[in-house]
Amino acid sequence: MSEKQIKNTVILGATGSIGESTLDIIDKNKNRFNVVAVSGHKNINKLVEICKKFKPKYVVTTHTNSYKKLCELINLAKLDTLVVSGAAELNTICQLPEVDMVVAGIVGSAGMESVLATVQAGKDLLLANKEALVVAGNLVMQAAIENHATIIPLDSEHNALYQCLPDDYSVGATPKNLKKIILTASGGPFWNRKLDTFSQITPEQACAHPNWDMGRKISIDSATMMNKGLEIIEAHWLFNLGVEKIDVHVHPQSIVHSLVCYEDGSVLAQLGEPDMRIPIAYGLGLRDRIPSGAKMLDLISAKKLEFYSPNYQKFPCLALAKQAIEIGGTAMAILNTVNEVSVEAFLNKQINFMDIAIINQKIMQKVEIEPVKSVQQLLELDSEIREMTRQVVRENG
Ligand SMILES: NC(=O)c1ccc[n+]([C@@H]2O[C@H](COP(=O)([O-])OP(=O)(O)OC[C@H]3O[C@@H](n4cnc5c(N)ncnc54)[C@H](OP(=O)(O)O)[C@@H]3O)[C@@H](O)[C@H]2O)c1
Repeated sequence: MSEKQIKNTVILGATGSIGESTLDIIDKNKNRFNVVAVSGHKNINKLVEICKKFKPKYVVTTHTNSYKKLCELINLAKLDTLVVSGAAELNTICQLPEVDMVVAGIVGSAGMESVLATVQAGKDLLLANKEALVVAGNLVMQAAIENHATIIPLDSEHNALYQCLPDDYSVGATPKNLKKIILTASGGPFWNRKLDTFSQITPEQACAHPNWDMGRKISIDSATMMNKGLEIIEAHWLFNLGVEKIDVHVHPQSIVHSLVCYEDGSVLAQLGEPDMRIPIAYGLGLRDRIPSGAKMLDLISAKKLEFYSPNYQKFPCLALAKQAIEIGGTAMAILNTVNEVSVEAFLNKQINFMDIAIINQKIMQKVEIEPVKSVQQLLELDSEIREMTRQVVRENG
């Protein structure tokens, strides 16, 4: 592979589940990628291990209190990697002229500014960090179009849809001849559980996803089905579609990752083992199919593929997400922030499982919605809603 074809890659959230899968694929395709920078937040030891193996030029911790320790460990390991700290510095690294692509694997709206910085610099953005798009969808999509940045979704459902669209399709445009899309949902660990037992659900039970091995926040979102709600919002921005063109089918086997329904009655789907390395590899290869390390799907042993309508009574977060799209403006950002705080409160055992949806709805109804104008506005709104939600959590406890 010529030097020009080697992709200089930044991995945001390298210490997380998406980061780990990305690095595993890069390790299997060493001749295609050069890791320029990796970021982590608090897991400094893992960050150092990554640096020892991949020898990036820069390592960033966004948790400024961890900077000193990270410097010490990098020195101790006798690495040439430059240690950088802070979110603003991370944005600068995403925009370096030598960078070709950025894998956005930070969890939550904390990743919003780095996602924006990436598209503003016209880089290829491989997007796992769905919350960034939920919060700032119009700013991200506008900046991507203006700066000719390519966005490839890594979320398995959106990546599946992207795989089922023509090769010349660019994210941000409404796909041609499309009737609707169907996002599949595993239903999480509780889709079959009786609603009257939901208040007894523990964080440990909610984190134990039947099919996917993921970070704690997205695991709770899958259990409440807010993850699917956030994905409806994500699909709305990526594929420029209204809510009426986005369906959800519960598919407990997680083998069909989503479907595109065309005007002529054809339905295209992407199938595969539930392994995030498949969509990540398709992104890293920029639609070229490179080895991912995932097991090949065996439909004979899979036996059955089932599909059900979602239950909105058990999973009210789904309807909340659709409402947020219909309301527009800051509604999606507000829903995302309240959800981040209420999920954290549930993980800390301050509220029960059902309270997540109740608090999300309560604050959504309370706050005045405005058009999204700037990053500054979204950051201020985020602080305000975080405080308001913490107050509701305290009153609840
Ligand atoms: N995991 C999946 O299978 C999957 C599938 C589809 C989409 N996604 C999406 O991908 C994103 C990452 O998910 P994940 O499961 O990989 O999460 P995760 O395992 O919890 O990892 C999160 C990453 O973000 C970093 N981080 C945490 N707080 C941060 C902050 N305030 N500022 C900057 N970085 C911060 C973490 O650093 P430290 O660990 O060093 O603190 C870690 O590197 C999420 O948006 C999720 O919805 C994930």
